[in-house]
Amino acid sequence: PLLEPLPSIPALYSSIGFSIFAFLATIYLVPALGPTFIKARLSGRDLLKVYDSKIPREETLIPESLGLVCASIYILSLILFIPFAFTTPILEQINGKKPQQGITVVEFPHYQLSVYLSSLLSLLVATILGFLDDVFDIRWRHKLPIPIIASIPLLMVYYAEHGNTNVVVPLPLRFIFGTLINLGPLYYVYMSLLSTFSTNSINILAGINGSETSQALIIALSVILNDLLYLPWPIGFRIPLHLLGNHTELEFGGVWSAGMAHGSRELVERHLFSLYFMLPLVACRPHVLNCRYPARAFPGDTLCYVTGMAFAVVGIQAHFSKTLLLFFIPQIFNFLLSCPQLFGLVPCPRHRVPRFDADTNLLHPSKASEIQFPKPPTKLTTIVLHTLSLLGLTELVKDPNTGVITNSTNLTILNVFLLRFGPMNEKRLVQVLICSQVCIYITTVNCVGSLNPAFQIAGSLLAFFIRYGLAGLIYDG
Ligand code: UD1
Ligand code: MG
Repeated sequence: PLLEPLPSIPALYSSIGFSIFAFLATIYLVPALGPTFIKARLSGRDLLKVYDSKIPREETLIPESLGLVCASIYILSLILFIPFAFTTPILEQINGKKPQQGITVVEFPHYQLSVYLSSLLSLLVATILGFLDDVFDIRWRHKLPIPIIASIPLLMVYYAEHGNTNVVVPLPLRFIFGTLINLGPLYYVYMSLLSTFSTNSINILAGINGSETSQALIIALSVILNDLLYLPWPIGFRIPLHLLGNHTELEFGGVWSAGMAHGSRELVERHLFSLYFMLPLVACRPHVLNCRYPARAFPGDTLCYVTGMAFAVVGIQAHFSKTLLLFFIPQIFNFLLSCPQLFGLVPCPRHRVPRFDADTNLLHPSKASEIQFPKPPTKLTTIVLHTLSLLGLTELVKDPNTGVITNSTNLTILNVFLLRFGPMNEKRLVQVLICSQVCIYITTVNCVGSLNPAFQIAGSLLAFFIRYGLAGLIYDG
């Protein structure tokens, strides 16, 4: 049967309204609050710029943690939106609507309310963690588990709904595992790891102007595009026959959505939920303008954590974490590449940003240790570094006499770009990073391509192609 356009869609209009409010508030508050943040010592120096030594240090400071302003506006608009998200059941209860025409009036959707509230709780924990990280520079081993704890409310709500813990097995492996495999508790482990991954992965792909904000913006837009595919779009039209003296309507076409293709109204509602969280997130992004090259504000860890948690929330609650991970391919690559440094195999300096050459205004790959590794690398480290070097992902410095590795470039995707494409300026490197979404998709799907600025859009389109086109080769759903 055809889906009716959803009754809850008016809530979507309210969500768009709140997003406009969030947009206007961010546009005004981010530049206005910059000096207040500097006064509160929430500021930093741009690592990749040169400053005239005659200019006092205070005048070169750039306000940091302005993600706090965005996170506050974002969460505030989500809180204000709660009654609007539940307008239909609230009105039904106020008007004491009785069952009519065979439609049974449903009870207040407590489950959906708990989904919404648990998501807000996780976002609040992410904001607190991000801000504490901005102020205190929390150590890796302490900040990694916190998003896992923050995801417990989400997982509990998922469990309460008898959440699906099955995964579809790729076609080539079905003769071993069958079509579906039930991961059981492991699925919950996977979802909690997703929250710590998405919060930290944006933060470690950072350090050049505009990188944090633009990657988050691209992922959010990709999620929105994906959600829109699931809404019931009226593509048909109706001819009212009463014009011809008959009291019926002749219907052509109807309502189309990818959700309908799966025959599920629930799927449509889940993607609406995702839109309610993604629209204000994108609307809080005009500070991208302030953070882009040359930066007038730094988003800070608060923004990275809140945005990452928002992605985890929608991925888990709207049940599309697999598709979400596709939009995170560059971050997954950067995270895997960073693991030897994050887990202590290779020395990890406080900042892994590329090295800035003031004379040429170009960025070069930076080294893991200033002069050389404090101690000779272990066997495991040597094997890992040699493998990465063979893959062209790092450049090693060796002792000419013994051949022992004495230094390597920092294991980040930004350094890989500089190694592969040669030194470039900061602005160009951000463009390359933005384009990298598609570069890595291309590597993944074994295609050949060269860089150009249109890759940003093509990246998302290609992700959709992989999800809805190539995925058909591996999955039949
Ligand atoms: C992460 C990275 C670190 C990188 C840093 C840059 C890991 C393990 N950590 O650390 O390597 O150097 O982000 O954000 O990968 N800054 C700029 N230009 C920018 C943005 C930031 O110079 O466009 C500098 C400013 O001095 C700012 C500081 O980075 O004060 C913020 O660093 P912070 O976010 O605290 O670093 P981490 O997230 O801990
Ligand atoms: Mg950071």
